[in-house]
Amino acid sequence: MGRFATGVTVVTAVAGGEPIGFTCQSFVSLSLEPPLVALAPAKSSTSWPRMAAAGAFCINVLAADQVGLARAFASSGSDKFAGVEWSLGSLGAPVIGNVLAWAQCVLELVHDAGDHEIVVGRVADLGTGEGSPLVYYRGTFVRLGDAVDLPAAAEQVAPIATDRALGPT
Ligand SMILES: Cc1cc2nc3c(=O)[nH]c(=O)nc-3n(C[C@H](O)[C@H](O)[C@H](O)COP(=O)(O)O)c2cc1C
Repeated sequence: MGRFATGVTVVTAVAGGEPIGFTCQSFVSLSLEPPLVALAPAKSSTSWPRMAAAGAFCINVLAADQVGLARAFASSGSDKFAGVEWSLGSLGAPVIGNVLAWAQCVLELVHDAGDHEIVVGRVADLGTGEGSPLVYYRGTFVRLGDAVDLPAAAEQVAPIATDRALGPT
């Protein structure tokens, strides 16, 4: 599944008076009416049960220059917010500085899914910033490439895709 490229988010909340969060790629925008999003926290996540108890969380969509945040929030137990610029959002969940977008969400439902849970949140408030997205692909953080849906670009991309499909590997 590493061949499925995604954006990268940091999901945050406040629990026991302290900010908590974890790096999360399993984020998806689910519904416009009502505004719902979903994510899949692993059952091994130490942050998620505390976020669930808080009842609200913030999705922070990382920009390409925020690889350091993605790495820092992907390690359990560390002081993840050390040196991180953030502010309290309208639902009380941390909004990280200079993110590409953020959404304050009320926890709506949790569905059991193997070693993960599928979580649906209702968006109560959101905002956007500037920049280009951080992308995660095959275990590596990468920048977004060029557009491929323009006629000129499509002509260039099609033969490359064909060559790869027919190659020995
Ligand atoms: C790019 C990237 C994407 C990740 N996506 C998820 C995810 O969707 N769900 C999840 O539970 N963990 C995900 N992780 C792993 C967590 O960030 C990691 O297990 C973290 O240590 C959990 O922290 P916690 O124990 O404080 O919750 C991802 C890690 C990286 C680097």
